[in-house]
Amino acid sequence: MEFQQVVDRRRMIRSYTDEPVDPAVVRRILTNALHAPSAGFSQGWAFLLLDSPDDVGRFWSSTTPAGEGADAWSGGMVRAPVIVVPMSCKREYIDRYAEGDKGWTDRDESHWPVPYWDIDTGMAGLLILLTATDEGLGACFFGIPPEMTESFRAEFGVPADYAPIGAVTIGHRAGAEPVTGSAATRSRRPLGEVVHRSSW
Ligand SMILES: Cc1cc2nc3c(=O)[nH]c(=O)nc-3n(C[C@H](O)[C@H](O)[C@H](O)COP(=O)(O)O)c2cc1C
Repeated sequence: MEFQQVVDRRRMIRSYTDEPVDPAVVRRILTNALHAPSAGFSQGWAFLLLDSPDDVGRFWSSTTPAGEGADAWSGGMVRAPVIVVPMSCKREYIDRYAEGDKGWTDRDESHWPVPYWDIDTGMAGLLILLTATDEGLGACFFGIPPEMTESFRAEFGVPADYAPIGAVTIGHRAGAEPVTGSAATRSRRPLGEVVHRSSW
């Protein structure tokens, strides 16, 4: 697929068939994620791959708050046969930037203008979404409710210094899904509104 087509076609897809995703395609998606840029080439990220019905079921049961999960959103999302949970690790960045070529040996967190660990992992997340689109698949990045983070960690044995930045469902689109989510009620902001040339 042409790059511009990939960008234009990438939308969050929230409804899937239960057709499995070719493991070779999943491997390409994850390999491309590792091509994301990272500050100091720290690569302080990890990706939990859930690609069996049992593991995907454990994801939903450990991240869905009690009393939720019976709506249309969940009904479409739980059919996705693959979930990738990108996680960021602040410690890896602080370690990396204390090395000789960077020299922030005091490990002071005020050096960081923004949390590069989350930014870099988010960039990897975008490559997951774009590669899924290029493969003709659907994908959706979504948040894990904060009150469910600990049960998610416990279910999958995630180390304390790795934080899930969200999760990505991947699967075959269920038909021509109309635009859903916030994009159904809001329009894309035009260039002139968000690009400030020469000065704000
Ligand atoms: C950081 C982030 C968190 C998001 N969280 C959710 C979410 O929890 N549930 C959901 O359905 N969509 C979520 N989205 C998807 C956005 O709603 C979507 O990207 C936006 O409405 C624009 O639509 P599009 O991506 O289809 O163009 C999230 C997107 C981002 C980047």
